[in-house]
Amino acid sequence: MIPKSGNRFLEKIMLKQTSHPGLRAPGTKRGRRAVPSRKRGREGWGPATLSARLGGHVTLEAHADGDIVACFDGHSVGLGKFSAGAADRAQGLRMGLPLGSFASDRRSIDKEVHRLVRRLARHGLLEYRLGRSPDGEDQVVIEPQLPDYWPRTPPLGDADVLVLSRFAYMRRRGNEMVLESPRAGALFKICDPKIATALAVLSTPQQIKRLRRQDGFPGVELLALLVDCQILFKIDPARDSGLRPAEGNDDLVLWDFHDLLFHARSTEGRHANPMGGVYPYAGVMAPLPAVRPRWPGKKIDLRKFSAAPPPYPPPQAGEGKGGGSPAAKLLRERHSTRSFDDRRPITLAELSRFLDGTARVQSRFSSRLDLGDGGPVVAYAVRPYPSGGGSYELELYLAVDKCEGLARGFYHYDAGGHALVPIGVRAHELEALLTGAAYAMAAPAAPQILITIAARFGRISWKYSSIAYALILKDVGVLIQTLYLMATDMGLGGCAIGSANIDLFAKMTGIEFHVEGPVGQFALGRGTAEAARPPVSGSPPRRR
Ligand SMILES: Cc1cc2nc3c(=O)[nH]c(=O)nc-3n(C[C@H](O)[C@H](O)[C@H](O)COP(=O)(O)O)c2cc1C
Repeated sequence: MIPKSGNRFLEKIMLKQTSHPGLRAPGTKRGRRAVPSRKRGREGWGPATLSARLGGHVTLEAHADGDIVACFDGHSVGLGKFSAGAADRAQGLRMGLPLGSFASDRRSIDKEVHRLVRRLARHGLLEYRLGRSPDGEDQVVIEPQLPDYWPRTPPLGDADVLVLSRFAYMRRRGNEMVLESPRAGALFKICDPKIATALAVLSTPQQIKRLRRQDGFPGVELLALLVDCQILFKIDPARDSGLRPAEGNDDLVLWDFHDLLFHARSTEGRHANPMGGVYPYAGVMAPLPAVRPRWPGKKIDLRKFSAAPPPYPPPQAGEGKGGGSPAAKLLRERHSTRSFDDRRPITLAELSRFLDGTARVQSRFSSRLDLGDGGPVVAYAVRPYPSGGGSYELELYLAVDKCEGLARGFYHYDAGGHALVPIGVRAHELEALLTGAAYAMAAPAAPQILITIAARFGRISWKYSSIAYALILKDVGVLIQTLYLMATDMGLGGCAIGSANIDLFAKMTGIEFHVEGPVGQFALGRGTAEAARPPVSGSPPRRR
């Protein structure tokens, strides 16, 4: 798997390293962010102001023709044309431009600044600061984790009761304290320890009226920003019977904390951390050996045994000899194919056989759960591959680029009915999905078909605590090998893809990320003649 940067937002955040923001004319040196001085300016006691600020790695260039371009670590992105007045105001983005200063949209210059700021936000080039004075200390810095994050402050009244989400956590990052949640669109860097203390009180429900009286009260605006990010949520103490069921819906109740965090952080789309094969320790330590060094002691050499004919040959052993059975041959022939012959695309008949053999429901049965005093009847479906607890929580969604007899588009495979059901998606989303797969495989073009393996999380977490997400990932591995073997058997090519964008899938399907979402991907098609050949033993693999 190679580093992912198909998502522009992610790419830019990945590059974030140093603090060199500022607006500059082309050819001039990058400015340095003025470090807030404790001495400069007085930390007033008024309410904190929320400002938009350029990310530490970003500078803006204003060109004579009105174009403003954002530059960061060797990359640049055009933001459009703006008046000289707007370019001048944009200088404030170095230290922080109060969101309120251009919110009215009444003056055309405000509209322009608003447009510029929103564009910067969409490219992931902004952060937001809460502070009591423009040049004073930051109290909180908000770092977007979703490409479309925009700070919102839902109205909160004194009578409202708030509590921390069970998915929220605070941790040390470098020498900073950050407050995060897999549900949140942004991460909150807590710069003032008093705020951390004040937030800890919210582990039990608190009325805002009472919070206001507390020493170190962080202000209603921060609380509202945290409610918007689902780090805090409102409860009705008279109605809500427990905190877990009161937060979100049934689909959320089923998630354990670590499972949701693992899902959101080990996929693409809901965080801004570096992702994929970025070799973070290449310069620090040597890689582990490809094969584990042998345990000490006497060894039993298996080579002469594996070459011997099996004592009980399986009925359809084909070539008969141990290493030459059809299954062993298939396993040896299996390899990853990343380039596909678009002059001879996979056909609908082949796709149908492929899905029939790998994922189709073969039979169904029900069984009553024995929980001592009776239990519900649970329905099961038998399929060609094994699945933890017989749960079969995995669904196949097909992004079809080229398939003879099937229109380009996005489909769900109805494994029960052995049918494809088209799902209406926006063209640019289908394109993004296919392009992302090509990027992940370092392939010259999109695969003919990209299969997204999505999990219906609740199907498995309804039964299993602590191990639910781990079981899902194990099931994905089993299914991927099944897809590989069937593709090999049919003379088709395939390749597993280790990353998937859960935010993109949520947008395409309209299903919330915690209800059903991608946990793996598999590219499928007819390989080029070169890709169809298994790699020669001993030859180095192609880059991935
Ligand atoms: C879980 C998993 C994730 C993978 N992710 C990628 C990927 O993102 N991009 C890619 O080009 N290959 C990916 N591969 C393919 C491996 O690189 C490949 O299986 C491995 O190099 C061995 O080569 P072979 O499959 O040809 O035998 C993945 C394989 C697995 C099992």
